[in-house]
Amino acid sequence: MSVNKEVKRVTTHVLQAMKARGERISMLTAYDYSMARILDAAGIDVLLVGDSASNVMAGHETTLPITLDQMIYHAQSVLRAVKRSLVVVDLPFGSYQGNSTKALESTIRIMKESGAHAVKLEGGKEITESIQRILSAGVPVMGHLGLTPQSIYKFGTYTVRAKEEAEAEKLKEDAKHLEDIGCFGIVLEKIPAKLAKEVTESLTIPTIGIGAGGNTDGQVLVTHDLLGITKDFQPRFLRRYMELFDTIKGAVQQYITDVKDREFPNEKEQY
Ligand code: KIV
Repeated sequence: MSVNKEVKRVTTHVLQAMKARGERISMLTAYDYSMARILDAAGIDVLLVGDSASNVMAGHETTLPITLDQMIYHAQSVLRAVKRSLVVVDLPFGSYQGNSTKALESTIRIMKESGAHAVKLEGGKEITESIQRILSAGVPVMGHLGLTPQSIYKFGTYTVRAKEEAEAEKLKEDAKHLEDIGCFGIVLEKIPAKLAKEVTESLTIPTIGIGAGGNTDGQVLVTHDLLGITKDFQPRFLRRYMELFDTIKGAVQQYITDVKDREFPNEKEQY
């Protein structure tokens, strides 16, 4: 199935309807204007201004260092490009945990300064107050369970989460809780496919998986991973659709050669 041309603008209600009729939801990350334009033109349903910008754009080892100001800058660039996709922006580490007033203030800044359509927060019951405060301001919230990279120092590794019974039970309870308090969707990251299926079937809101198997309502990947711009990141769940690192490197090497050999510019490429 290709892009649904009937949908002129993807909203949270459109996603809900997609789940109801069994149409899969496509989601990718975007951090800048040019890439967001391409992804939106291709017909992607949801663009996530992910805090993975901390890794992909800024070269940090974790997502923790990225600031609210930096997330707003990325969100503004993406929103300038988008005509159709729903744009969800990650609340960065330190902008919502343990303080619902701060969570609401951070969200209001993102919404006012970038024009985003929704925010995403990592965590379950422990961030209830923050989520409820944001929802009370009329802002749609997406949850994120399983591997939550902002808690990497608590987990210690980026391995598959919720393999053990106790953690799986907690994840199921958290997912139901997020639905009950009003989240419009949940990202399930790096959990067993069987568990993701069970959670997906138990909810009326859509789940979007990354490393969570084929039975979630949608899929998300980091765009730079899908395009092979990042080279060393090779998790099992990642399907690379291009090897752009090598393609770009080859093009740049050719340019260097052309400049050195005085092949560029030629007669037609000058005034
Ligand atoms: O920041 C991000 O890119 C994410 C996705 C991996 C879901 O949260």
